[in-house]
Amino acid sequence: MHDSRETFVNHAFVAGYPVKHSRSPLIHGYWLDKLGIPGSYRAHEVTPEAFADFMKAVKSGESGYCGGNVTIPHKEAAFALADRPDELSRELGAVNTLWREGGMVHATNTDGRGFTANLDERAPGWDRCDTAIILGAGGASRAVIQAVRDRGIKTIHVLNRTVGRAQELADRFGPRVHAQPLEALPEVMSGAGLFINTTSLGMDGASVPDIDFTPMASGAVVTDIVYIPLKTPILHQAEIQGLRIVDGLGMLLHQAAPGFAKWFGRQPVVDAALRQRIIDDMERRQ
Ligand code: ATR
Repeated sequence: MHDSRETFVNHAFVAGYPVKHSRSPLIHGYWLDKLGIPGSYRAHEVTPEAFADFMKAVKSGESGYCGGNVTIPHKEAAFALADRPDELSRELGAVNTLWREGGMVHATNTDGRGFTANLDERAPGWDRCDTAIILGAGGASRAVIQAVRDRGIKTIHVLNRTVGRAQELADRFGPRVHAQPLEALPEVMSGAGLFINTTSLGMDGASVPDIDFTPMASGAVVTDIVYIPLKTPILHQAEIQGLRIVDGLGMLLHQAAPGFAKWFGRQPVVDAALRQRIIDDMERRQ
């Protein structure tokens, strides 16, 4: 049996637990339709106990998939089980995109690329600053720290309620990353050009502390990787204070593109209709 993209219909998956919330099938379904590609992209609920067997079936070809995405809680397990995680993902210890090639499962993490592509699209020039502030030191902040560092930003302050977690990330990502307690915020804000929220603050409707964004550099950008709601309480505060804001939905859309290109052989475009499709879905599910 051979594997030619021209003659065979390719199938891809997203595996998570739970997976109902995943919008990836909508995104990839949109691109498959738009580009007229006769492939498929399906959601699979896979428990943590069943994940190793799922990966085995992907690797052997038994599952019929040429690759897929993994989401919470499988990103670390997929990294550990993949045959060929790339260099980027080795620093993160987590992957979200897998593909079969030469009988091996290759893997990468596209969250950082999604993050930068979103800012490139919606706030061009965002990287022309010396200092960035990242709120949060959870799983989601890692790819963001790596991406911001790799774009050349010289000083990256990671502020977290639990400073020890921020310190672990500073140790992992090198001397440009500085761990700080949340209380250091007023001090590090002065002259900063980029503010990124990676915490779940405000998602549950709980109140968010008041943040004074006015000491930031002129033209500074404030972004949130949370996209429900689209305008998070932190973005709302920043907008009122006259900052440029970028919501997190574009990160979700852009992180999907490299996987699609691998599995289906065409580079998809993140366009306004796709964005609207996801916004409509968010409204429907509210
Ligand atoms: P994820 O993998 O999605 O980033 P996580 O690992 O649970 O999720 O991390 C959530 C982040 O939000 C953490 O930085 C967390 O701070 P702690 O490391 O101190 O737990 C932060 N966070 C969540 N709720 C918070 C709150 N009420 N105040 C401040 N930080 C909060």
